[in-house]
Amino acid sequence: MTSRLQVTEIERVRESLHAAHSVFVLTGAGVSAESGVPTFRGGGNAAVWKGMPFYEISSAGMVERDLPEVWAWFDYRLGVLSDLKPNPAHKTLARWQDKFSSFTLATQNIDGLHQAAGSRDVYELHGNVWTARCIECDARSDVRRLGAARPPVCLDCRNPMRPDVVLFGEMLPVGVFDRAVDAARTAEVCFVVGTSALVYPAASLPEVAKRGGAFLVEVNPEKTPLTEYCDASLRGPAGELLPLLGFE
Ligand code: OAD
Repeated sequence: MTSRLQVTEIERVRESLHAAHSVFVLTGAGVSAESGVPTFRGGGNAAVWKGMPFYEISSAGMVERDLPEVWAWFDYRLGVLSDLKPNPAHKTLARWQDKFSSFTLATQNIDGLHQAAGSRDVYELHGNVWTARCIECDARSDVRRLGAARPPVCLDCRNPMRPDVVLFGEMLPVGVFDRAVDAARTAEVCFVVGTSALVYPAASLPEVAKRGGAFLVEVNPEKTPLTEYCDASLRGPAGELLPLLGFE
């Protein structure tokens, strides 16, 4: 149910969006929640797998200690993702890409659902779950082409491969974060959709946009550490709220 206050807030955001030439969007796990992808945090809980919190199993140390176990966790995630479809939030953002002189979509998600909805040139800050990377020669392959061996074996040099995903304790892929910073700095409107805004450096992008003069909008059912810096907050599920902003 949308309250009168919320309707006014939606109108305000819609006006800013329609007047903008450059838009920057940062998404997190919440944008895929309505597709059935579990978030990492939310409702006071953090995801746990085989008794391990996700930040332990998804860590650089774990790749060194127990690569097969890391693959077991990622195979579980691939299993969850393989049947899932983009939701109206992904589809709305895909439509926006052709409506502005400059539009950048940066995501912390590794699920590929933005691309499945039709988004092009997505800045994948944390990598992609469908790609494996050789730990020796850095060659990349689609996980689905690599067979069932775990860890998979590099097609080029026969060494073990790991998920091509940024894990705790690792740097972001070279270049992609800098490009995201450039886009955020020059955006007139910045949307932060479905992220707890706790994991840096991704969480610094809305701050960069705000310092650059952007109108900052959060779309999230819950408050986050970013909420107090936002010019507008749309409180609710992204799949319901983003389509209300027009460009349908
Ligand atoms: P989190 O799980 O930390 O946060 C998900 C956010 O989505 C929460 O603020 C929820 O309130 C919100 N949310 C839930 N349902 C929603 C909906 N239908 N519409 C909009 N928002 C909704 O996920 P991230 O912020 O993405 O990194 O987490 C950031 C990073 O932490 C992830 O990329 C991952 C993890 O460690 C790596 O794996 C490197």
